[in-house]
Amino acid sequence: MTYSSYLRIPELLALQQEPRAHDELLFVVLHQSHELWFKLALHELDEATRLIDVDRFPEAETRLRRIVTIMRQLVAQWDVLGTMTPAGYLEFRHVLEGGSGFQSAQFRELEFASGLKDPTYLSSPWLSERERGRLQTRLDAPTLADAYAGALERAGVTDVVDVLRAGPSLLTMLSETLLDYDEAVGHWRHRHVLAVERQIGLKPGTGGSSGAAYLRSTLTRRFFPTLWEARTRL
Ligand code: HEM
Repeated sequence: MTYSSYLRIPELLALQQEPRAHDELLFVVLHQSHELWFKLALHELDEATRLIDVDRFPEAETRLRRIVTIMRQLVAQWDVLGTMTPAGYLEFRHVLEGGSGFQSAQFRELEFASGLKDPTYLSSPWLSERERGRLQTRLDAPTLADAYAGALERAGVTDVVDVLRAGPSLLTMLSETLLDYDEAVGHWRHRHVLAVERQIGLKPGTGGSSGAAYLRSTLTRRFFPTLWEARTRL
């Protein structure tokens, strides 16, 4: 076994074709690395959901902390994209044709598995059969938000405000970590829309949406709306 054979480095590096314009390699690496981190986040999310289901909160926390850290470092990755000029992007943007991050099946899986399900994505023509199958499974399965709701129910909590009011406990800590996760994804969405405006202004997206205007409409999406809403009533 060598470093290269264990990590399948030749296969990994073969995934980036010769760039057609200088900045295309940055664009490809940024997207591919996001997909790898999404893969790991989904892996951790499944485990966190399973652990919450059996009230193993400290172990669930360690998984959730990892997901939060992954999302925070993805937020930081937008700085690298900021080193690309809009003119540099325009040199190869036409290559994408109708391709867009909007079609990222793993991003939708993350949304579905966390608590934000929208079955209309399943009829998207760009999904492969495998991607559609995975999304259908996610659609049918209980989410992280469901697992949290179940934990509250088992603890006899009828209003999450009571958890926020109580002193430190495993449930209050879990609640704050879930909020950290929701907030980190929110930051990712904000940084994405700023990066988009910086690159293409108010042009429509390659995926066919209105572009930044559509992305701004997604900024209020939340995985755990009751945890946010409870703050108002506290
Ligand atoms: C130059 C860089 C980028 C530009 C100009 C850009 C532009 C856009 C636009 C305009 C949309 C809306 C859909 C459309 O009409 O295409 C979108 C959606 C999306 N993009 Fe990007 N993007 C960039 C980089 C990235 C990167 C690096 C990722 C990482 C995976 C990404 C992930 C996504 C996702 C997940 C959506 C769907 C968001 C949602 O529906 O909530 N984008 N992007």
